[in-house]
Amino acid sequence: MNKHNKELAINGGIPVSKEPILIHLPFLEQDDFDAVTEAIKTTFVSGDGPACRRFEKELANYLGVKHALFVNSATSALELAFRVKNFPKGSEVLMPNFTYTSSALGALYNDLKIVLVDVYADNGSINIEKMEAAITDKTVAIVAVDYGGIPADMDAINAIAQKHNFYVVHDTAQSVGSNYKGQKTGCQGDVSTFSFHGTKNLTTGEGGALVTNNDQIAERVKILREKGTDKHSFLTDNKTRGYYEYVDIGMSYVQSDILGALGISQLKKLDNLNERRRQIAETYKRELAGIEGLDFMRITEGSEHNWHLFGILVPAEDKYWIMDALRAEGIMSNVHYTPLHRNKYYNHLGSDEKFPDSMSFFNRLLRIPIYPSLTDKDVQNIIFAVKKVFNA
Ligand SMILES: Cc1ncc(COP(=O)(O)O)c(C=O)c1O
Repeated sequence: MNKHNKELAINGGIPVSKEPILIHLPFLEQDDFDAVTEAIKTTFVSGDGPACRRFEKELANYLGVKHALFVNSATSALELAFRVKNFPKGSEVLMPNFTYTSSALGALYNDLKIVLVDVYADNGSINIEKMEAAITDKTVAIVAVDYGGIPADMDAINAIAQKHNFYVVHDTAQSVGSNYKGQKTGCQGDVSTFSFHGTKNLTTGEGGALVTNNDQIAERVKILREKGTDKHSFLTDNKTRGYYEYVDIGMSYVQSDILGALGISQLKKLDNLNERRRQIAETYKRELAGIEGLDFMRITEGSEHNWHLFGILVPAEDKYWIMDALRAEGIMSNVHYTPLHRNKYYNHLGSDEKFPDSMSFFNRLLRIPIYPSLTDKDVQNIIFAVKKVFNA
């Protein structure tokens, strides 16, 4: 590496960018501000109002699914995804070891046992063979995760699930707008769970959606997310009824109509925003190709990435130095998250030796900025800084 190059900012040289280029920024503009203002003016600011229902309908159409249910986070959607199933306590759920804690929380909240599976070293996606090897007579479900927005190999996962009659929860938190074999992510699993957190390609600040083609699951979720009441049908049925009933035990996961309005305006431009991300990714790939020691993440065959994240795989021994050197150049980069077994709460579930490819992926992964509001100049500065640091 170029650790001793005098000109590097980390060694006292002039940074490539005087203003730090942040790792991510939400894309919010005048029509989003107007949508929120108009929503407030209607005074229907509480949950499950007309804007939320319109957003759900438009999202379902966009994704090509029957039901999209807007909730306050993907974490809540994951909890609901398991709550609707009533699996026996202690049943096992397979999931990738390299994921965000929420992928596991949905099962854990429902007293299920999570079984971590190693991932592919070149993209962090669940290793299909190792997943099959981890099946026991207690396995009931699989959580498939689209890390960084790259679709997991859902055909392979579904084939195993069908053979064993497993439930498939597709954690699509990061992949809104990605495609898998010609269809948007969101229709491949029994249930899919999207996030609209401020860092995501479509944002409502905080928020998420549970998406499914299953009518029974959708009906139950409408009740569970609204404190176990049948308020949704009370609000939407034409028959006048002066009250609604408490029909189940539930949580309060409905979203304000203000956020529903923001979802509508964000969804309108999602494809354009993802196209800008794609152009930036193509530029990175073209300009950074061939740098020794730098690889790109593998995109699952037959899929199209929404470029939620742009990860580069760098030499493990230099990763933190590269991160610091890029930051000194004014380019924010980070490592995202650590494999679950590396965290205090999950470290009883395995050791580094059990997850060699998760460790390899984690040890090599660095994220560089990718978001629609990056200017061409920013993109050129990022490329220049990476080349400078790699002495390429
Ligand atoms: C893979 C994955 N699942 C779930 C979540 C949780 O999303 P939320 O913040 O909407 O609960 C995240 C958040 O980034 C995530 O990356």
